[in-house]
Amino acid sequence: MEGIAILDELFTGVQSALAPRGPNAEGIATLSWIMFAGAGLIFLLVMALLAFALLAPPGRRGWLADRRMVIAGGIVFPVVVLSALLVYGLALARGLVSVPGEAPLEIHVVGEQFWWRVRYEADDGREPLVTANEIHIPVGRPVRFTLTTADVIHSFWVPSLAGKLDMIPGQANRLVLKADRPGVYRGQCAEFCGAAHALMAFEVVAHAPEAFEDWLRAERQPARAPPTTFQARGRDLFIQSGCGACHRVRGTSADGDLGPDLTHIGSRRSIAAGIYPNNRGTLAGWIASSQHLKPNNKMPSFPVFSGEDLRAIAAYLEGLK
Ligand code: CUA
Repeated sequence: MEGIAILDELFTGVQSALAPRGPNAEGIATLSWIMFAGAGLIFLLVMALLAFALLAPPGRRGWLADRRMVIAGGIVFPVVVLSALLVYGLALARGLVSVPGEAPLEIHVVGEQFWWRVRYEADDGREPLVTANEIHIPVGRPVRFTLTTADVIHSFWVPSLAGKLDMIPGQANRLVLKADRPGVYRGQCAEFCGAAHALMAFEVVAHAPEAFEDWLRAERQPARAPPTTFQARGRDLFIQSGCGACHRVRGTSADGDLGPDLTHIGSRRSIAAGIYPNNRGTLAGWIASSQHLKPNNKMPSFPVFSGEDLRAIAAYLEGLK
């Protein structure tokens, strides 16, 4: 049964290069299948020749040792096959970096130990919108990512939508992708970047175009005021405890830039870079014990709060929709 579940995940899952959900990922999946099928056929051919060489009567297998056979099978055949693959691969790669037709949505993603800073460039001269660990895109429109890093090499990979591209210090790499249908696709850092590398994931949420505009408009709003006194207490604790030294909550005095922007943390699906579901319990657990939940991440654990205070801060953050 386990085998079937793995196969199902491979062909329908949210993080599989064999379950493409956009033209770029489709091109890559097609190339993979061509290579897999070709390698399989050539393997069968070689095995058949080997069996013939071993089992056929000596009088009938002499042609296998012929000089022309060696040149045809050992030089001409691989040169032709590999050249054809090279031409096909280069043509495909060209299509993967070009943007057809309409102006792409520009998103800048910065890899950080061990999370993703996401910046939506505004085309009307406004400040870019900054968020983290969850990338929202419209369906049917090309998106061009500028990929950089704040520290070491990371690698940006959403297998269902595009190929893998490294984030390299001192360099800006560009990746174009397009989602064909609404959905949530999972991505993962694909280059060892330190102790918490395996816990550096993210999600791409593809919306219908109008829904994406709604999301963008909501996300541009400053944080809303806490609706309850309990949450207001959480906000006061958040500010007094110095959380704002690292985190920004637009509309409050918290304007740190070291960690993820928390202005709309309550609307995100997960916390800790795609690792835990986002709810009051995981938020409280994260604040008290982040080093236990994601060892060696850059946020220290804060085991200083009483349970009640912790719940108040978590309730405040959960309310930042
Ligand atoms: Cu970032 Cu691995």
